[in-house]
Amino acid sequence: MAELVLTEIDKVYDNGFYAVKDLSLDVADGEFLVLVGPSGCGKTTALRMVAVVNDIGPRDRNIAMVFQSYALYPHMTVGENIGFGLALRHEGKAEIKEKVDRAGRLLDLTSMLTRKPKQLSGGQRQRVAMGRAIVRDAELFLMDEPLSNLDAKLRVQMRAEIASLQRDLGITTVYVTHDQVEAMTMGHRVAVMRLGELQQVAPPQDLYDNPDNIFVAGFIGTPPMTLMHAILNVEGDSAGLRIGSQYLPIPRWVVDARADLAGKNGQEIIVGLRAEDIFHEQREGSHPLEVTVVLSEALGSSVHLTFGLAGTPVDESRLGSGLAKEEEQELTRLGHSKEIEGVAVFPPRLHFGTGDAITVFADGSRLHFFDVESGRALR
Ligand SMILES: Nc1ncnc2c1ncn2[C@@H]1O[C@H](COP(=O)(O)OP(=O)(O)O)[C@@H](O)[C@H]1O
Ligand SMILES: [Mg+2]
Repeated sequence: MAELVLTEIDKVYDNGFYAVKDLSLDVADGEFLVLVGPSGCGKTTALRMVAVVNDIGPRDRNIAMVFQSYALYPHMTVGENIGFGLALRHEGKAEIKEKVDRAGRLLDLTSMLTRKPKQLSGGQRQRVAMGRAIVRDAELFLMDEPLSNLDAKLRVQMRAEIASLQRDLGITTVYVTHDQVEAMTMGHRVAVMRLGELQQVAPPQDLYDNPDNIFVAGFIGTPPMTLMHAILNVEGDSAGLRIGSQYLPIPRWVVDARADLAGKNGQEIIVGLRAEDIFHEQREGSHPLEVTVVLSEALGSSVHLTFGLAGTPVDESRLGSGLAKEEEQELTRLGHSKEIEGVAVFPPRLHFGTGDAITVFADGSRLHFFDVESGRALR
């Protein structure tokens, strides 16, 4: 039984780099929490702080860590590798054997226990590393990108295995990854980090459906959400968005249901549109947008269409700096217009040529809205 509570944790490296800022996070007993964010955002730093910042001495601290690189001892058998930590703690031979056998059964490694690591596949080796963590009867698992060395197919398999193992064992787990698919599929809750700061913590579907800001909106979901500048227009019973020179009607209730958005009438906002809410043909509640085909990728089960749309794209890194606007004014003055790049997911076997001018249809009731200055969701 272990609950993990982080309260206002900071980490400044010796060179003055502020790697983790004011991180507060509660992980419930038995919870699987995924910490996700781009490379360099401070995930490993945060995880290592969990491992060391503790009132208890390291020997009694019942934490097991699994890393991306799992150094197995090549001259030892799989079973010896799994039980090595226990042997170091001078546990009895019979007890070690029992624990190793149990881990072997859990991890489907029973027939491999007498083999050497080099006779195993990458996925099996990763399971041995998991086995080492399991036999320690740890109360807390800390995993740092444990699957990133595996090929794509094995990653999919292992991600299901780790999630189900965690469910069976019920051990409180913090799992670090930069892979948002792992984040979506593995954890009870997902904590999104960016530049050392926690952005949002929520169950995966909530994160996807209600991102708190444009960073989370753009980071969670593949293909990523299309983000664009727009002017909100509410008049009488109707509402809509001016995007470049086009007008996208939205249902009036969409605005009425969001007090922050309703306050932005006539003003610039940022609008987000998920790829699956853009269609190749008109549907009830959808409205046309004229776009240009940038790239059409047939993935077999679907077609990913990258398109250009005249208007102002969102440069998340410049948000709040006022730079984007100045730049835009300069471009307008020079007679250039900028292009929003978006992605739609269409049914298979539709063909588009690069450069084709086509009409797509967007569902006005399924948009996400953000403040143009802060990037925060308008709710
Ligand atoms: N020992 C160190 N000294 C200075 N900066 C460091 C050190 N270790 C990591 N960093 C920096 O801290 C930031 C966060 O690193 P890290 O926690 O490893 O990120 P992540 O695991 O999310 O990729 C990075 O910009 C990295 O360069
Ligand atoms: Mg890392």
